[in-house]
Amino acid sequence: MTSPRNRYYTLESRPVGELKDSDLARREAPVRAPERGEIQLRTRWISLDPTNRIWMSDMPQYMPPIELGDVVRALTLGVVERSAHPDYAEGDLVTGAWGWATHPTGTPEALGAFKLPALPIPETQALSLIGATSGMTAYFGLLEVARPKAGETLVVDAASGSVGALVGQLAKIKGLRVIGITGGREKCEYITDELGFDGAVDYKSEDVGAALDRLCPDGIDVCFENVGGSIFDAILLRMNLYGRVALCGMIESYNAQDKVPGPYAFGMILMRRLRVQGFICTDYAARFPEAIGELLGWAGAGKLKIREDLREGFDNLPESLRQLLRGEKLGKMLLRV
Ligand SMILES: NC(=O)c1ccc[n+]([C@@H]2O[C@H](COP(=O)([O-])OP(=O)(O)OC[C@H]3O[C@@H](n4cnc5c(N)ncnc54)[C@H](OP(=O)(O)O)[C@@H]3O)[C@@H](O)[C@H]2O)c1
Repeated sequence: MTSPRNRYYTLESRPVGELKDSDLARREAPVRAPERGEIQLRTRWISLDPTNRIWMSDMPQYMPPIELGDVVRALTLGVVERSAHPDYAEGDLVTGAWGWATHPTGTPEALGAFKLPALPIPETQALSLIGATSGMTAYFGLLEVARPKAGETLVVDAASGSVGALVGQLAKIKGLRVIGITGGREKCEYITDELGFDGAVDYKSEDVGAALDRLCPDGIDVCFENVGGSIFDAILLRMNLYGRVALCGMIESYNAQDKVPGPYAFGMILMRRLRVQGFICTDYAARFPEAIGELLGWAGAGKLKIREDLREGFDNLPESLRQLLRGEKLGKMLLRV
């Protein structure tokens, strides 16, 4: 039997526009045995996130971009195969940020790894329900940044995705009227029929502004912004006095080569006295246990539904990331290694 090898992808050049295979190198090496203080992991799941594409570029961002030649950074889940660290044992389930690698070895700090406690959920939901880029983002972005009140109207875009689907469901739990913007009929039906949103806008086939006028006759109090550009403009133009915008992401620009059109309606921040606040989920890392407890409670009570778009095969990582950014998926995308 041949011994397993560590397969990994490194970033070789900064993508211009959509990620190309030639921006990456697919490498492999013998699995390295852990030295004192290190663990050796076998990756089970890799989380595909829009921020993978941000980290590949050298635009100003919230943490250093991936260095050329380094392993592609990503959130991950795996199991300890060998341990030379007193706090880790073979078989421990760990989550972290060791990236696009199948059998990495290093200190827990270098791998961004920490041990998961026993959880009453399938292991993939450690990434799709209570992950930093899923539940933690939705929970703190909505409840702490947007500060919604029962009876208000909330609009969220990229609404059928990992963050948006949770934001809409949490807002429903908190008694808001929720309108989601997403691409295509199937995704619109998913957020209304399965997740209980009050309305959906298909930005691919409808005029977003006209649809918002119809679905939000009393205006918009809370915007949970994931997209940017013209969709964000359509929302800003319909915000109510003292509305709040939680600026979570601007995915429209992540593959952009030219300046992104909009948002132009910046004046609405003045005219309607809006509070617009950007945030990054890790701003709230110290409070993750609180959010995890709440999300597990709601999910256990059947109030939160999770849809995962599960992919297979390590070599399909680049194409999966391209598809995520094109919206060719439904739910939280994870790849099984
Ligand atoms: N601030 C933070 O800490 C934090 C953490 C996690 C994520 N985020 C941000 O949150 C946003 C959503 O992330 P996610 O993980 O939930 O991704 P996702 O929604 O699961 O997947 C990305 C979605 O973006 C939409 N999209 C892509 N290009 C678009 C365009 N030009 N116009 C409109 N929609 C477009 C597609 O939606 P449709 O399917 O509807 O077409 C696609 O499905 C991203 O901007 C991400 O960077 C921020």
